[in-house]
Amino acid sequence: MTASAWVVAAAALCLLAVPAAADINSSEVVAPAATAWWTPNASENLAFQYQLGAKFSTKKNYIKGIQVYFVDGFDTDASVVADMLSKTPKIYPVCYFSAGTWEDWRADSSRFPTAAIGQALDDWPGEKWLDIRSAEVRNIMKARIQMCKDKGFVAIDPDNVDVYTQKSGFTLTAADQIDFNKFLATTGHSLGLAVGLKNDVGQMTDLIDFFDFAVNESCMDYNECDTYAPAKAAGKPVWNMQYKSRSFKAACKCQDAFGMKTIYKALVLKSKPLTQCTAALKKGTCKPLKKSG
Ligand SMILES: *[C@@H]1O[C@H](CO)[C@@H](O)[C@H](O)[C@H]1NC(C)=O
Ligand SMILES: *[C@@H]1O[C@H](CO)[C@@H](O)[C@H](O)[C@H]1NC(C)=O
Repeated sequence: MTASAWVVAAAALCLLAVPAAADINSSEVVAPAATAWWTPNASENLAFQYQLGAKFSTKKNYIKGIQVYFVDGFDTDASVVADMLSKTPKIYPVCYFSAGTWEDWRADSSRFPTAAIGQALDDWPGEKWLDIRSAEVRNIMKARIQMCKDKGFVAIDPDNVDVYTQKSGFTLTAADQIDFNKFLATTGHSLGLAVGLKNDVGQMTDLIDFFDFAVNESCMDYNECDTYAPAKAAGKPVWNMQYKSRSFKAACKCQDAFGMKTIYKALVLKSKPLTQCTAALKKGTCKPLKKSG
């Protein structure tokens, strides 16, 4: 290219640039919806930790080599998230919150309309199912997702998104659930956050395209880890916790077959115990777990 051709080309670029700049609407004060977010790929094989039962401390709980940390969105301060983000190799902090239940101990619990609070959960004191159709519930969830964003998280893990399958106290349809779960995914993405699908395995096929990864607990105990085949096919990571040594070991043998990354944890979900599927544990045939007694 000659010097004069460069001038012409540069001038053409300027002309192209001007209308774009003029397009900006000065009255627009809201940040534009994000078009990019973290899209983890199962082939990256990222190791993860799931620590909800004890406040995460980078000093005490950071484990070199583990790159994905699920921590409580309310209990983890922005300074801790910033600390996590400063690590090498890169850490991806994921913000946990319950989207389908009301928890009486949360800072925003008084915001929920009484009419949207349903039946109590069997095993979790202080927790009740929510009417996921409620506009106010959605506004609160939106605020929670914004809180995750403001704290610096790169992803969210909205829990309990299978209310329609539960004795919630509300008559909810499968379509209500799909609508709510898509709302969570869209809201997260609009803020530039990756969004995980936890529970709601029954709607996996309908929903996986809208989510960036999946989270499971104990699927090996039910020999149902293969429900995640659609996630595997899409190259999206499935992060799974097993709480029994026997099913953990069986899940390790199936890790590659199911495109799943499994860890051993105790139900309290503190920093320890934490066991990864090592190469030794992965050896052997993937087969259904025999029901014990
Ligand atoms: C995990 O998968 C099992 C088996 O499909 C299912 O029953 C359970 O609800 C799932 N749990 C989560 C947290 O997704
Ligand atoms: C994930 O990575 C693999 C291997 O690099 C690539 O073939 C695949 O297209 C990726 N999938 C997605 C969903 O990005």
